[in-house]
Amino acid sequence: MAEEAILGYLQNHEGISDSGQFATDHGLDHSDVVNVIKSLHGFRYVDAQDIKRETDVLTEEGEKYAEQGSPEVQLFLAVPAEGSILKEELQKLVDPAVFKIGCSQAAKNKWVQMGNQISRKVQHVEDRIKDLLLQIRDGQEIDTGDKKSLKARKLIAVQTWKGYSVRKGPDYAPIRRRTATDLTREYLQGGDWRNIEFKEYNFSAKGPPPEGGHLHPLNKVKERLKDIFRLMNFEEMPTNRYVESSFWNFDALFQPQQHPARDSHDTFFLKAPETTKQLPEDYVELVKRVHESGGYGSRGYGYDWKREEANKNLLRTHTTAISSRMLYAVAQLAKQQSFTPKRYFSIDRVFRNEAVDRTHLAEFHQIEGLVCDRGLTLGHLIGVLQDFFSRLGMDKLKFKPAYNPYTEPSMEIFSYHEGLGKWVEIGNSGMFRPEMLRPMGFSEDVNVIAWGLSLERPTMILYGIDNIRELFGHKVDLALVKRNPLCLIGIQ
Ligand code: PHE
Repeated sequence: MAEEAILGYLQNHEGISDSGQFATDHGLDHSDVVNVIKSLHGFRYVDAQDIKRETDVLTEEGEKYAEQGSPEVQLFLAVPAEGSILKEELQKLVDPAVFKIGCSQAAKNKWVQMGNQISRKVQHVEDRIKDLLLQIRDGQEIDTGDKKSLKARKLIAVQTWKGYSVRKGPDYAPIRRRTATDLTREYLQGGDWRNIEFKEYNFSAKGPPPEGGHLHPLNKVKERLKDIFRLMNFEEMPTNRYVESSFWNFDALFQPQQHPARDSHDTFFLKAPETTKQLPEDYVELVKRVHESGGYGSRGYGYDWKREEANKNLLRTHTTAISSRMLYAVAQLAKQQSFTPKRYFSIDRVFRNEAVDRTHLAEFHQIEGLVCDRGLTLGHLIGVLQDFFSRLGMDKLKFKPAYNPYTEPSMEIFSYHEGLGKWVEIGNSGMFRPEMLRPMGFSEDVNVIAWGLSLERPTMILYGIDNIRELFGHKVDLALVKRNPLCLIGIQ
């Protein structure tokens, strides 16, 4: 309404000299008129100039006296026309504020005789104060001396009124053009986009504040673990490949092709791309040979190794696939230059075709560490594990012999859980076999000690979560992510 009125008026008039007057003349609310002017000014339909006017308005007290009469008159009227009244009696007749102000003003005006007994000095008074207040309320001008005294008595105050004077702006039009904010499918299909005027992009508009930024418990624990590895001088391995070939995931690790883990019941194989594009051929040949007939003091598995099986793509089942690639690269570099010992770690996602229950998921995270150096022994492995786990707050460790196709000896790692009062399995470890390391090109004196554990297990223990599905996957309660505290690993 206000918008049409303003734009329409400007069509036939020079300008609007006062938005307040304009609002009154057109029966509009001044604040609506002001809002429309601001918006029209922003879009250059009009040029608006501020106008400020100071007006006098009644204060709350002033309003009261405009209605009920000034305190001095109220007091005067309470004094009897004849005789006198005791001060205490008079006090009961009027309200306390009126009494106090009324006494001093009436005495000043010489209307009453003050003392213990109060009596009138004149028979009739005029309420000038009330009259002045009513004039101010009506918007009439009054004598400056009177105004000053009303201000001094805090019966009136100055109020600043803000409005605008308006003229046509550079982009004036009698009706505001509707501008489009989005380029839609319909605009493109119908060709309308050619004629439509698009709203200009406002680069300084503030967007809605983002309501995110909460770290998942797994990410928090992961960061702490990374800190621990870095403090132990371990380098992070690049884990950015979920898709891996069977070759790096299994064959390079001396895992036979008939091994049950390579069954589609255990591993997710890819349909597309079904096979890997390239493998290092010389090395593949050596891996084939060690599987079939051994070498380096081993008898091998004695079966027909098939290239097609090694080519199959899968979602990596463990981060040890990354370790095998990295170790191969270390061995190749050693052949060209000289051998450099390495400490590597990785923390990332792995996938297994498993039935999901409260402790298992089809995808989870593995933490893996390895040390590659000359002359390493099981004693070194135990020492490194003790160092690593004590930094996680697990001091009491026990080891139990185990089997992995790629490590010998292998050990399961147990830690004493104070809360549960028992030993719990926390990881797996071992020394990589010569059947794995020698085909890569490592010399006989180089050993690799390694261990692996899941990230979910320690996170669940730290956060007191007993169902893995509450931690990871589509059933996670987002409130848990928002509210969970920092984790409690003490880094030493
Ligand atoms: N890859 C093993 C697993 O998936 C963990 C492991 C890593 C074991 C390194 C020994 C050495 O459980």
